[in-house]
Formats: sequence, structure tokens, C-alpha cells
Amino acid sequence: MRVLAISGPLADLEVDALVLGVWQDEPLAAEVTQLDTATGGALTRLLESGEFVGKPSELLTLPVPAGLQAGLLVVVGLGPRTACDRRVVAQVTGSAARHLAEKTRPRVAYAVGNDLSPDLLADAICGALTGCVGQDVLRSKPRLHSPDEVLWWGVAEGAVQPGVILADSVNFTRRLVNLPAGEIYPESFVEQVKAIAPDAGLEVEVWDQQRLAEERCGSLLGVAQGSDRPARLMILHHRGGAADAPTLALVGKGVTFDSGGLSLKSSEGMKAMKCDMAGAATVVGAMQAIGRSGVAANVMGLVGLVENMVSGRSYKLGDVLTARNGKTIEVLNTDAEGRLVLADVLDVAVERGADKIIDLATLTGACVVALGMDVGGLMSNQPEWCDQVASAAARCGERAWPLPMFPEFAEQVKSQVADIKNIGDGRWGGAITAAKFLEEFVAERPWVHMDIAGPAFREKAKPWMDGGASGAFVRTLLEVAVNWGVR
Ligand code: BES
Ligand code: MN
Ligand code: ZN
Repeated sequence: MRVLAISGPLADLEVDALVLGVWQDEPLAAEVTQLDTATGGALTRLLESGEFVGKPSELLTLPVPAGLQAGLLVVVGLGPRTACDRRVVAQVTGSAARHLAEKTRPRVAYAVGNDLSPDLLADAICGALTGCVGQDVLRSKPRLHSPDEVLWWGVAEGAVQPGVILADSVNFTRRLVNLPAGEIYPESFVEQVKAIAPDAGLEVEVWDQQRLAEERCGSLLGVAQGSDRPARLMILHHRGGAADAPTLALVGKGVTFDSGGLSLKSSEGMKAMKCDMAGAATVVGAMQAIGRSGVAANVMGLVGLVENMVSGRSYKLGDVLTARNGKTIEVLNTDAEGRLVLADVLDVAVERGADKIIDLATLTGACVVALGMDVGGLMSNQPEWCDQVASAAARCGERAWPLPMFPEFAEQVKSQVADIKNIGDGRWGGAITAAKFLEEFVAERPWVHMDIAGPAFREKAKPWMDGGASGAFVRTLLEVAVNWGVR
């Protein structure tokens, strides 16, 4: 998709579709009156009739509109101006884009968001560019057809770039997650990231199995040992700040497939488990956006990549693994593997000088029980840092909510035979006991754990985005990084 800023009379645009954003309870914008005149006052009559009021994402399609060169005029509601935020505006353009993508429409123009702040404009563009991309990445005849060319009307050249960067990263993350585990495994994940790294100015470091062993990553390697696919640990560097400036570390769970291991999942529980590397995909997507936007901060992305499989070499219940930081872990459920992977990656982040850490992981079904499918759980060892991450998410219109980290929960991960065990005493509070396990590996650095098991992957489509991977929290991580730079 090429995205171009354009200007000039809307009526003369030779495009397959023109999307026009209309505010609720406001007269038509001055720039749009020309379009109204060209259609013989059709827009004014439409608003006067009450057929269209401009509620958020309200869509109305006028085919071959008289007086216009466009093949289709899509009028979309932006809602009341005072209620417009980054979430609303992305959903508005996303809904229009998803609707238009149902047919092949190579050239689509948007007259939306030209009177918005740069932040809102970026999300409007991001919504339009993500709404038209589907999860059918391997379908010979895709259901959604993204346009070749997207024209953004009424904005300066260069003003489209932040939105394009955001969308490219959200779509990159979604693609990694949507591709099946036969395509995306630790080595191929690394290749996909290596392919985008130079353009984002990211430095890449990859640890293979031998290096992981030399680095004593016994916890991560324990999970990986049942698979024929060798594990990887990938470290990305964006050096946008001074050499002595603090470093933000983003850590991701990259289980490219989670069968559950010997604690095998049911078919129902396993069928979407290609999504279990969404934490890692979110981190690399955010790193790409951070790099391409030239954020003035030092940011490090670290992802642990393994497959959790069943074989004669699988790790077993009762095994005791020694993590990189020296702690011993009794394995009482091989399906609680994400925390074992993150344990070693968090330790590497600490050793590499992370001043503050955020990890993202599709870690527990319990978090989905607690918060539902659309909200990420925040767990932290430091309220101020947690508040910063929560408010970054809120500004982006992404849904995240804190869960308590009372010390009592830590009792549950104590073991009779090792330092800790990899599950709590029962299923209650399972998202929190998992976080308490992770806390053992952050060496008291300010740290926020985001459990994205719900929002990372959708069973059903939303009006503004196809089902499957959502790309949730790429925006939030970029927002945190930008603020990290301006401290
Ligand atoms: N990857 C799963 C968590 C998950 C569940 C992600 C649903 C996305 C959707 C994780 O590795 C897992 O299996 N967790 C177990 C933990 C339990 C064994 C303590 C779970 O949630 O059941
Ligand atoms: Mn699991
Ligand atoms: Zn998992």
C-alpha cells in the first residue's frame, strides 16, 4: 500500500472510493461544501433528512454519486468532536476500510482527520491501513483486498508518515501472529525480524542453542527441549539516546506453538496456540516503529523463542530447571511454559542494563477470565511505573487494567523441592501467581508485566478489524518509548 497526501477539489478525485468523515451535530466542514455543491446538495439533504447523523462508525455508501469522479462515496460518522479519541478515530476509519476491502478497490481516498491533531491523524491513518488487512494470509483468494494506493486528503506531505509507521508495525505484528506455526518457528521468526531491522535502524543480536546453553538459559531450554525446532533469543537495540541515558527494555514471550507439552492441551485449547508468540511479535513490531520514528531514547527489545512440544525429549513434570539467575524451578505443569521462557529473558534484560522493564505475554487463561477478551492485565512491582504504562495505554485508547500484586500471592510459587515452582496452588488468581513467578527474575528493577492472552488474538472480527491477531499494544509501547525519550 502506497500512502500519499493530496489536496485539491474532492469532486475531481478519480478514485474507486472516497471516504468522507462527518462530525455529529456539526455543519459540514467548509472544505466539504464544494463536494456538496458538486452533488447538487446531496450531503446537506442527507444530514437534514436524519438518515445519517454521524454517530461513531456509522457508515453510508452512495454508489456512482452524480457530480463526482469517485466510484463510491462512503460517508462515515466521527461522532461528536468532544468524544473523539485515538480509539474512536481508528475504529471509524478501520470500519470504513474493512467495508471497502470486501471488493477490489485499488485506489481509495480519505477525507477524514484533516482537522485533527497529529496524534489523532496518525490513528485515523493507522485504522484505515489495518482495517483492510485480513487474517487470511494464506488464502489464494483473500476475503479482504487492501488498496494499492491510499490517498489522504487535506494534510501536509509528511503528515501521513507517523500513521504509516504505526500501521506497518501493527500489520507486521499481526502477520507474524496470524502465520501458522508451520511457517513461524524460532528460526523463521528471527529471519522475518532481520528482514525489517535495517530499515528501522535496529541492531540485531541472536543467540542460538549453543549460546543459550553457554549463557545458562536452563529454564528457556527446558521448554525447548521437546521440540525439533531449535530455540533462539533475539535482542534488538534502538540507540536513540545518549550513551549514558537510561535504557528501556521490552521483553516478549515467543512460544511459536504451545501444545502444552506433556501437560497436553485439548484440541479446543490448542487450536489457536500459534498466537502464543504474540508478546514477542508485539515487541518486535514496537521496536520497528520506535526505530523508524527515531525515538530519542535507548530501547532494547528481547524475545525468547521456543516451541512447546511433546516428544521423547520433552521436559517432564517433576523436573527441576536451573534458570539463568541461578534459581531452581520445579516444573509441575509443562503448560505453564511462558513464565519459564520469560524467566531467562528477563534476566538477560537485567544483565544488559535495563533501567525499567515491560514484558508482554499471552501468559494465562486466568487473565482472560479476570478481565475478558479485550483487556490486558497489568502487574508490577512498582506503582509509579505501572501508572506510566497504564496512562500510555489510556492515551492510545488501548485497554489495560492493573491486577493486585499482594505479597501473599508469592507464597503460592514456593516449592518443596526447589526454590520455586512454575504453578500456583490452584487456579484462582492464576494471572497473578504467574506474575509473582516472573517477579523472581527482574532483580527489583521497576517492571510491568502485561498479560495479553485476551486482546492479542480475536476469535471473531470487530467491525474495524478482522479476527485473528489484533496487534494490540504496539501503539502503547511506542507511546511509552516516546515519553521515555522526553523525560
Ligand atoms: N499460552 C497459554 C495461555 C493462553 C491461554 C494464551 C489462552 C492465550 C489464550 C499458557 O502457556 C498456558 O497454557 N497457561 C496455563 C497456565 C496454567 C497451566 C497454570 C493456563 O492458562 O491454563
Ligand atoms: Mn502453555
Ligand atoms: Zn503458552
